Amino acid sequence: MTALVVAMDGPSGSGKSSASRGVARALGLRYLDTGAMYRAITWWMLEHGVEIGDPAAVAARAAEPVLTIATDPDAPGVTVDGREVSAEIRTHEVTSAVSAVSAVPEVRARLVAEQRALIGDGDIVVEGRDIGSVVAPGAPVKVYLTASPEARARRRSAELTGTTVEAQRLAMARRDTFDSTRKADPLVMAADAVELDTTELNLDEVISEVLRLVKERT
Ligand code: DC
Repeated sequence: MTALVVAMDGPSGSGKSSASRGVARALGLRYLDTGAMYRAITWWMLEHGVEIGDPAAVAARAAEPVLTIATDPDAPGVTVDGREVSAEIRTHEVTSAVSAVSAVPEVRARLVAEQRALIGDGDIVVEGRDIGSVVAPGAPVKVYLTASPEARARRRSAELTGTTVEAQRLAMARRDTFDSTRKADPLVMAADAVELDTTELNLDEVISEVLRLVKERT
């Protein structure tokens, strides 16, 4: 049997992270959060005063930050230049800047290469936006999670403080449009991915459905 790669793509608030970690735990697989890598690069750019709105400035420094990311679903830590930044990458400032940074082709090329190296021989659940389409097109299991805009905004605002569901819905709609219309690897569903609408499902139901797909496809 070839080693297993489970690609979990979809927009923010679709329930990707919790489901991906749950599936990895249930199957004893590693877990890779590729969004955390884009966030870590973004954090570094902000720390170093790089003009985020200037793609050439971001591209010029894209190779500089040294990233490490753990693949344990119970301890998925990220470091940049040796500093642990798991909390820093979840701030509003990073979240607002990450779409622009992740649209820069030099950033994507670098991270896609690192993601492929981390995936290596597989036995891993990988969450992101372009895993089934670009990073691991040969993955035997590809899931594309969706949820209604209201459900996604509700989940996100429950995780954050100082925001409303409506403000979240608007901010997410803006990011979605940006992420799916950018030139470099826009967010698209791979042709052979299975779409899973999580609007009416709880976490255990989403995990069970993915486990069922894994069984069916392997
Ligand atoms: O999943 P997340 O919210 O942590 O992702 C952060 C940002 O990174 C999001 O704006 C899209 C981008 N991203 C990407 O372009 N490609 C990926 N594989 C993962 C995330």
